[in-house]
Amino acid sequence: MADEVKDQDLMNKIVSLCKRRGFIFPSSEIYGGINGFWDYGPYGCRMKRAIEQLWWHEMVETRDNIEGLDSTIICHPRVWKASGHLDQFSDLMVDCRDCKSRFRVDLMDDPNTCSNCGSHNLTEPREFNLMMKTFVGPVFDDEHVAYLRAETCQPIFVDFNSVRVATRQKLPFGIAQIGKAFRNEINPRNFTFRSREFTQMEMEFFCHEDEGMKWFEYWKEQRINFYRNKLGFTEDNYRIYVHEKLAHYAKAAIDIEVKFPFGWGELEGVHHRGQWDLSRHSEFSGEDLQYFDHDNGRKFMPTVIETSVGLDRTFLAILSKSYYEDTADTCKEGKDQELRIVLRLPATVAPIQVAVLPLSKKLNEAAEKLYFDLNRHFRCEFDVTGSIGKRYRRQDEIGTPFCITYDFESESDNAVTVRERDSMQQERVNLSTLRDYLEDKIGF
Ligand code: GAP
Repeated sequence: MADEVKDQDLMNKIVSLCKRRGFIFPSSEIYGGINGFWDYGPYGCRMKRAIEQLWWHEMVETRDNIEGLDSTIICHPRVWKASGHLDQFSDLMVDCRDCKSRFRVDLMDDPNTCSNCGSHNLTEPREFNLMMKTFVGPVFDDEHVAYLRAETCQPIFVDFNSVRVATRQKLPFGIAQIGKAFRNEINPRNFTFRSREFTQMEMEFFCHEDEGMKWFEYWKEQRINFYRNKLGFTEDNYRIYVHEKLAHYAKAAIDIEVKFPFGWGELEGVHHRGQWDLSRHSEFSGEDLQYFDHDNGRKFMPTVIETSVGLDRTFLAILSKSYYEDTADTCKEGKDQELRIVLRLPATVAPIQVAVLPLSKKLNEAAEKLYFDLNRHFRCEFDVTGSIGKRYRRQDEIGTPFCITYDFESESDNAVTVRERDSMQQERVNLSTLRDYLEDKIGF
């Protein structure tokens, strides 16, 4: 019944829905916007927090051997020297002098020809460093330069000893962090897919070198299962890319790619980073970051397995696979079919999980009481304006999995009608069992 929207327009439709319904807007829009920066509106931040909470619960709260961290965005500049970002985190770019297009050299089919206008009038390749620079303190000189973090994992390595000592964790164990990262991307594009300010969810797992590949396989499977079981991704919309060309220190790397409207794109990386990160920070800081294993008297530099995903990309990936257009359930026979835009979001991350809709204004008071009861357990909305059909449409468009209609019989039979978003099936449910019913369906 429902036709998947596959066309080129899908991204435009998603961007338009996000703006119209308050999921995501361009940052500073009244000043013309700023390229590569996006604001999450009321529904957007509800959904973003729900995804973040799902990840945190899965990666930290349900595991004894993963600790959390919330580090600063600005670190000592030597952190980025040690990590290699200051020397290597750059793209080689050329500009077309005729049409002013800019290209990454490594992505050009022909590095001597502008792929936009065909001109050969190109600049020499130039390095563009992706680190965002700022100054700490009142003097804006080289002594006071600092950088906004380009990835959330570096402070995890820097704080490795502090976390280990404070928590008395023994290897193997991990440290996880969710937070903002900043990159001066040359060419931000594809909506939030490549932004200049974005949120990462990263976990660094520390183990003995001999067990590195075992843990790499373990985390790869865990992360794939997360997308399949918690976010409903199927083999149609995700795939695994195995890196053949590895960084010199890495032992293995895969990307979990998903289908975005513009094609397949990287969502998450699971990387075996060897001993590189801790060794570099030991060398640059002078602090010994080796681990002493009391059980067998061995001292060694831990090996790191990383899982790293962008929250904004996860958000966009979920929207991409959830956007559908089909036919509304409220069309009267003989009338033209009404188009329905529906986001088939997983109930765990939907910005609104339950909408309470009184059938008539006369029922507002009793229905509002039900709304306040449910709102303590689910993300709820109370909507009284417009026909019931219009209200269903509004909830479908923001992905609300359950609409509850409080009608004139509700007073006498102590029951409400629950309408399920995807099937549009309606069911009469007694108020005494409503909460259990919803908890069961939403999947707590
Ligand atoms: N610590 C490893 C690391 O940062 P990465 O592949 O550069 O690796 C990890 O980034 C994840 O962060 C990516 O898979 C992607 O989901 C997200 N990400 C990276 N750059 C991004 C950008 N410019 N905009 C949005 N998300 C981005």
